[in-house]
Amino acid sequence: MKPTFSESMELVGLSTNWNNFSDEQKELINTLVENGQTHLFSGWDEPGTNDEAKKEFLESLEKINGNYPGGLVGYISNARKLLAESKAGANPFEGLTPEQPEKVDLTSFTDEFKKYEKIGADYFDKTGVVLVAGGLGERLGYNGIKIDIAVEVLEETTYLKHYADNLLAMQARSESKRPVPFIIMVSQDTGPKTIQSLEENNYFGLQKEQVHILQQELVPAISDNDGALALKEKYELILKPHGHGDIHMLLHTSGVAAKLAAEGIEYFMFIQDTNGPSFNTLPAAIGASVANGYDFNSLAIVRRPGEAVGGLAKLVGNGKEFTLNVEYNQLDPLLRATINPEGDVADETGFSPFPGNCNTLVIKTDSYVRILEATQGIIAEFVNPKYTDETKTAFKKPTRLETMMQDLPKLFGESEKVGVTIFDRMWSFSPNKNNVTDAAAKYASGGPADASATAENDFYAAGRARLEAAGMKVVEGEEIKILGVPFTVGPKVILRPSFAMTLEEGASKISGGSISDQATLIIDGADVSLENVELSGKTGLVVKACSGAKVTVKGKFENDGFELVELGADADVPEYLKIRGYRFENRGAQTFEFTEPGEYVVEA
Ligand code: UTP
Repeated sequence: MKPTFSESMELVGLSTNWNNFSDEQKELINTLVENGQTHLFSGWDEPGTNDEAKKEFLESLEKINGNYPGGLVGYISNARKLLAESKAGANPFEGLTPEQPEKVDLTSFTDEFKKYEKIGADYFDKTGVVLVAGGLGERLGYNGIKIDIAVEVLEETTYLKHYADNLLAMQARSESKRPVPFIIMVSQDTGPKTIQSLEENNYFGLQKEQVHILQQELVPAISDNDGALALKEKYELILKPHGHGDIHMLLHTSGVAAKLAAEGIEYFMFIQDTNGPSFNTLPAAIGASVANGYDFNSLAIVRRPGEAVGGLAKLVGNGKEFTLNVEYNQLDPLLRATINPEGDVADETGFSPFPGNCNTLVIKTDSYVRILEATQGIIAEFVNPKYTDETKTAFKKPTRLETMMQDLPKLFGESEKVGVTIFDRMWSFSPNKNNVTDAAAKYASGGPADASATAENDFYAAGRARLEAAGMKVVEGEEIKILGVPFTVGPKVILRPSFAMTLEEGASKISGGSISDQATLIIDGADVSLENVELSGKTGLVVKACSGAKVTVKGKFENDGFELVELGADADVPEYLKIRGYRFENRGAQTFEFTEPGEYVVEA
């Protein structure tokens, strides 16, 4: 193959290296030069100088070319189009008016809530869980992968183990016992440690085959409106993350979505790396999707005006209507320009009329696979260049195309139905994404802290809510501040998914009883039941039963339980404790563990 470009002075060096390239590389170089990328090959050294760097450069171009549907040419042409729109100042919401989306309100544990949970529970073996875990977590600043952080430090359960436990509980409850597919999207930054964590922990009891690891790749940065790929130095591109919308592309290109759909998986639930409560919502959210025929169900919370989460709105106009996440910085101007000159303000409920997006999504697989095939999984890319001035001709630094997984409905037509299911915040959305200093500042200025301590706090609060829903008397403890972040002292309640996946299941295993404001209760096991259990003072009670061990717990327990010990900002402790500022010390909690099948009674 010959060069198709003319031999300018600039490309003399490239030509002298020509015979060292493979046919594929020659073709790619020709195509890139034809597509305005001559600068990538300008001033190349003669053969014998920097050959290793040239080889690695070409390999990186080939890799990106292979990973992106439509290859590098597709990426460059998408970039040019989006950059032209951005330069023209195109308003993505032109002609559209926000209205209320179709909503299901599950903010309290009503009969409707229980009805949806029941429907969803029948879909445990028809559901796959997709975890997007490729993010760097710069705001948290944890020195490791986020899913390795403990969601609670009484037993130090990591996010990854907590998610795996939920999958195991789902499959144990289905008639078919079919393993729940677990798709984990990783990136270069998180991939090796995610695999290490799974392997060192024997996949947390999951079968290796049910776990699908998909790795997202970085995309090239772009330095101008013509889509010139940016170089860090000669022979090295600048690469940047493409965003969590990559999950759609990877589920398509890997064939995993189509394969699982063909195998009978009807819904995917998409969750984020450190949102511990996601599985609290899973049964009712799947139920809401099934009962209302939603192709796409966005889980949401009531949103404080101005809060930094996207607002979910039905956008109507131009002969179309579709329900979409509107980023919080776009919501205010959109509202001002359309329905409310005051912008993003509260309605009579005290909250924004537009629910806040938790980015937990339930997507119906048959419509999903159809959309993926039609789009190759490239979901509504966008570009957000920072221009040097109002002429919008130069960027302050190279930009790149990005995608967000919640933008999928942008590709929906009239036949796809989008709904929003609103849950209580503690029950559904408590991400661990801010370091403790920033979290304290956010909290002080009236926003959610979204930190390790608040995530753990909500983990226990969800346990308390399950006890209360089952009829136990729960005395809520006081809220204290630890390093400026709020934390309710108790009771600390962990009801493992093995014990209960739905409210009804919890209620069937708990009768009566009470728990005091500083007590701790941890239950793990499908056949444990609590009969008028009373935990007073600081009492701690831990009951764990293997499969086949039927344990009845009764009576009034009293001991010195677990004590909360504050650590201070400069404590010399492991990072997972440092990021929350406390730990628990066992001062005499009672633990009952049953590792053999049989019938047992635990009595105080
Ligand atoms: P976040 O918005 O929390 O971003 O991502 P982040 O990159 O992890 O954290 P910061 O902004 O650096 O502090 C939301 C979810 O999307 C995943 C994250 O892992 C998290 O579960 N994500 C984000 C990806 O999987 N890939 C990406 O390219 C970006």
